[in-house]
Amino acid sequence: MKLLRILILFIVFQVSAQQGGMWIPSMLEGRNEKEMQSLGMKMTAAEIYNINNSSLKDAIVHFNGGCTSELISSRALLLTNHHCGYGAIQSHSSLQNDYLNDGFWAMTDAEELPNPGMIATLIVRIDDVTNKAFEGTNDSMSEQQKLAKISQNLEKVQKEVEKEAWQDVFVRSIYHGNQYLLYVTEVFKDVRLVGAPPSSIGKFGSDTDNWMWPRHTGDFALFRIYASKDNKPASYSKDNVPYIPKHFLPVSLDGVAEGDFTMVFGFPGRTNEYLPAIAVDQIANKFNPARIEVRDAALKIVDSYMRKDQQIKIQYASKYASVANHWKKWIGESQGIQKSGAVEIKKELEGKFQQLVNEKGLQNKYGGLLSEFDRLYKEAENVTFANDYWSEVVNRNVELLSASVMIYQLEQVYEKKGEQAFVEAREKLLNRLQGFYKNYNATVDKAVFERLIEIYANNIPREFLSKSLGNNQFNKLTNDIYQKTKLTSLAGATELLTGSAAEVVKKINKDKGYQFGKELTADYYNNINPKYIKITEQIAAVQKVYMKALLELFPDERIFPDANSTLRITYGQVRGYQPRDAVYYMPVSYLDGIMEKYIPNDYEFEVPLKLRELYKTKDFGKYAENGKVPVAFIGTNHTTGGNSGSPALDAYGNLIGLNFDRVWEGTMSDLHYDPSISRNIMVDIRYVLFIVDKYAGATRLIDEMKLVHPKKK
Ligand code: ARG
Ligand code: GLU
Repeated sequence: MKLLRILILFIVFQVSAQQGGMWIPSMLEGRNEKEMQSLGMKMTAAEIYNINNSSLKDAIVHFNGGCTSELISSRALLLTNHHCGYGAIQSHSSLQNDYLNDGFWAMTDAEELPNPGMIATLIVRIDDVTNKAFEGTNDSMSEQQKLAKISQNLEKVQKEVEKEAWQDVFVRSIYHGNQYLLYVTEVFKDVRLVGAPPSSIGKFGSDTDNWMWPRHTGDFALFRIYASKDNKPASYSKDNVPYIPKHFLPVSLDGVAEGDFTMVFGFPGRTNEYLPAIAVDQIANKFNPARIEVRDAALKIVDSYMRKDQQIKIQYASKYASVANHWKKWIGESQGIQKSGAVEIKKELEGKFQQLVNEKGLQNKYGGLLSEFDRLYKEAENVTFANDYWSEVVNRNVELLSASVMIYQLEQVYEKKGEQAFVEAREKLLNRLQGFYKNYNATVDKAVFERLIEIYANNIPREFLSKSLGNNQFNKLTNDIYQKTKLTSLAGATELLTGSAAEVVKKINKDKGYQFGKELTADYYNNINPKYIKITEQIAAVQKVYMKALLELFPDERIFPDANSTLRITYGQVRGYQPRDAVYYMPVSYLDGIMEKYIPNDYEFEVPLKLRELYKTKDFGKYAENGKVPVAFIGTNHTTGGNSGSPALDAYGNLIGLNFDRVWEGTMSDLHYDPSISRNIMVDIRYVLFIVDKYAGATRLIDEMKLVHPKKK
């Protein structure tokens, strides 16, 4: 008996040790399909992706270009994360109608709120166009000549592709330019907000719990896709009707247990799993720490103002969350690289690689790759620092400076394309600035400016330091700029931007704030950026050959293509993990844990009264299991940013959860996936149903779903 247990454990370990990877849904047949079935899947690859019949993929929707969402009713009810809908929920919020704080529930279709500019994209089909892409290229061409030929080929391919008039098309490379895939899509433009829990549920635990397990966040929001009367994508119109999808996901009421098969279907953004050791070392030990220092300073300042002033809290909530999110991720990533020994593991692989190259007599083709990497990454170090400091300080965290970047681009339009182009670009900019200033507070920004400019001046490599930053008088510089600039209000900015192009150029160049922002931005575009792009292209060319070599030399390894915001499947099982010695994390969290974390009047751990009452009276409906409401669970699915809002599916393709995060110890998985500690975090779908039904009373939404009992068949 004991032996059998050990054997089973061994097999389980073997299987999970193989996991990781984000696979192309149209290429699952064979190895992936077998592996998925061995992990417990009861479907075939054709039920996941099929272009002749409806399949799971027809329910998976790219949400506004960044997140994932899924269709869960025949009337196109669309489920995604609260943090993915956050910007939209915020834009409908005011001090009077604070949907971020109080939640929002449309009790009829008519109450659903349109979101101008929001898009939802469905994938119609994926074609492999690699052969066509490479047509007419050969090894005597330079990399630049090859890339030019390929992009010419791809233009033709996209023009000639078979598709309907209302469909769109794009091509993306996978395996770093070694393979090309074409995507036919349908882009829906009328997406309305249907429901969102209050932040005390949807963002429970906030930044303290972010990237951590155990987790108790009800991170979900509901939208609906509207289409024209003939079920086609259409711009917003009050005459539009709910879209009728080809497939929508049934929702399982049966929950999960440790060891259950799970898969996550969505649009992971970016991974870099095949970098050389030197690059991973630079990210973990040089660039992450630099970016963390900048954000650390900015966040502390913004937080101190948000705590004092409710208006500032609403204005800065969304910006703060997104800055904090990556700040914390980078800290976890650097720690995880260290702890998992990722750099040493990569070095070992490189030793093996070099040995194989020599054994196979491939020195001419691949022998110089690793030393090339070494040389290029060393050469790239200073300009990468400069690029990161400029992006973090000027383009992102000091808002006055990011406004000058936008105005700089407008000035360039005039210089390069003339008056007419200027007028059009100005109109767009003025629109953008409206939203910008709605959430702008000059006192907050001034404090951020003073601190960040000091960090910038002290740390950017000397060769890239702008002239005005030479004298170290940051307090004087700050006061001078914020006293005189007109860029601290919409009225001031609009005044600067009014008049003929020549007048505008004259006015803005007299503004102290713009003068300073322009100097840093011009230095960036004229010096830092061209050097950065050049070296990045050289590195990409080596990476392309290295990727090809890895595929060739390790044909039996599971080498998956890095994420690139295209549709992928990742799969695994529900599993706990051991974060450190003598500690084991169980894979499921419960409502009891919310009550354990509850801190009255704390903005991160407040629990709404209604939820406390439901807990006290045990009014759990059909959403409890042994008297407890499950809230979240973790699994061995390999996910990344962009997978937010992705459905977690059971062995039959029913919805069991909603992906929204990863665990702290495993956040280095974008660079190095470690199956023993990398876990994704999902909201249990029964918690979503419980909140919609029992907390919000939005039973009309439950009624339009298809609830199933796969385990009770
Ligand atoms: N960490 C998750 C993700 O990467 C959730 C982010 C939500 N934002 C936050 N600051 N809590 O997107
Ligand atoms: N929260 C992330 C997102 O917004 C997903 C979590 C992750 O990075 O794994 O996509």
